[in-house]
Parts: sequence; C-alpha cells; structure tokens
Amino acid sequence: MEDFIERVLITEEEIRQRVRELGEAISRDYAGKELRVVGVLRGAFIFMADLVRNIRVPLSVDFMSISSYGDECETSGVVRILKDLDKPITGRHVLIVEDIVDTGLTLRHLKEVLSTRGPASLKVCALLSKPERRLVQDLTIDYLGFEIPNCFVVGYGLDYAERYRNYPFIFVLKPDYYHDAQREGKGQCG
Ligand code: IMP
Repeated sequence: MEDFIERVLITEEEIRQRVRELGEAISRDYAGKELRVVGVLRGAFIFMADLVRNIRVPLSVDFMSISSYGDECETSGVVRILKDLDKPITGRHVLIVEDIVDTGLTLRHLKEVLSTRGPASLKVCALLSKPERRLVQDLTIDYLGFEIPNCFVVGYGLDYAERYRNYPFIFVLKPDYYHDAQREGKGQCG
C-alpha cells in the first residue's frame, strides 16, 4: 500500500457496486424522460463518468466549475462560477452530480442558482456526505452514495492540494502529508 495512505475508507469494489445501484435507481426514476446531467468540476469528474455509464435513459452532460469564497478553512457558502454551463437548462430534467456534501453551503447555493433558470426538475446525486458537518439543515440529497464520518478524504476524484484524484478508492491521508492550517484533525476520524 502507498506510504501516504492512513486508511482506505471505501474500496474500489464498494464504489463500483454503489454507483451501479445509483445508476439503476436514477434510470427507474427518470424512465420515459430525458436527463441533463450537470457535473461539478473538478471533484465529480470520475464519479460522473462512472455514473452515466450506469444510467439507461437518454441523457446529455454539461459541466460547471465553481469555487467558494472564504478562507482556506471554511466555505462561506457564496459560490463563484468559474465556468458556467454551456447550454440552457430551461425545461430540462437536471441532475446535479457532486463529489461530496460537507457543510452543504456550496450545494445550497448551486441549487438556488440553477433553480432560477427554469428547469423542469432539479435533483442532486452526491457520492459522499458528511452529516456531522452539515450547516444547512433542509438540504435534500436525492441520490447518495455513502455517508462518511467527519474526516477529510481523497481519491476517486477528490483532492488535497490537487493531488490524489487519480486513485480508484477513497482514503484518508496520513497526517504528515497535510501541510496547511487545516492539518489538525484531518487525519483522524471515526
Ligand atoms: P461544502 O460547501 O462545505 O458542502 O463543501 C463542499 C466542497 O468542499 C466539496 O465539493 C469539495 O470540493 C470540498 N470538500 C469537502 N470535504 C472534502 C473532503 O473530505 N475531501 C475533499 N474535498 C472536500
């Protein structure tokens, strides 16, 4: 095992199985409809690629890139759009695909922005959720991969300082590999 891995939280096989189940549920729920799948860059790119290959209704994809205002440690909930959608979503059945819902501030803002554009429906599929960290109480995640404890995770698209996105499983880094103000508490969980 790689030296920087403290512990694997979700294996490649567990992810594959769960993504298949999510794809089946989405295919059932949207039967007879056409879907616009909106990926939130960059963290969701691997999850989204696997998810759409498990969905069996007609769909198109689009991407947004966002960054949250605020300092390194806390998201402020105000989201800056770095790259907007290429196509309008008016009248479309939109499914937002997110990597992880932490405080929930980012997703709440994103839902607010997209709902003003008149989609026929707007739902969310997130790979991970950390309920202990939630600040937004009434946030619905329509399709969720896994609930995880309050720890910082990387792999399968998720990064720390832009690294580790390429690993096919989800893991916790050894504390020595964090080099910022958030280091405290990052390695310990559950
Ligand atoms: P929220 O607004 O606090 O829900 O933050 C959501 C965003 O924070 C995610 O889309 C990720 O980019 C980032 N994030 C939160 N927790 C983690 C983590 O454990 N690993 C990697 N990125 C994370």
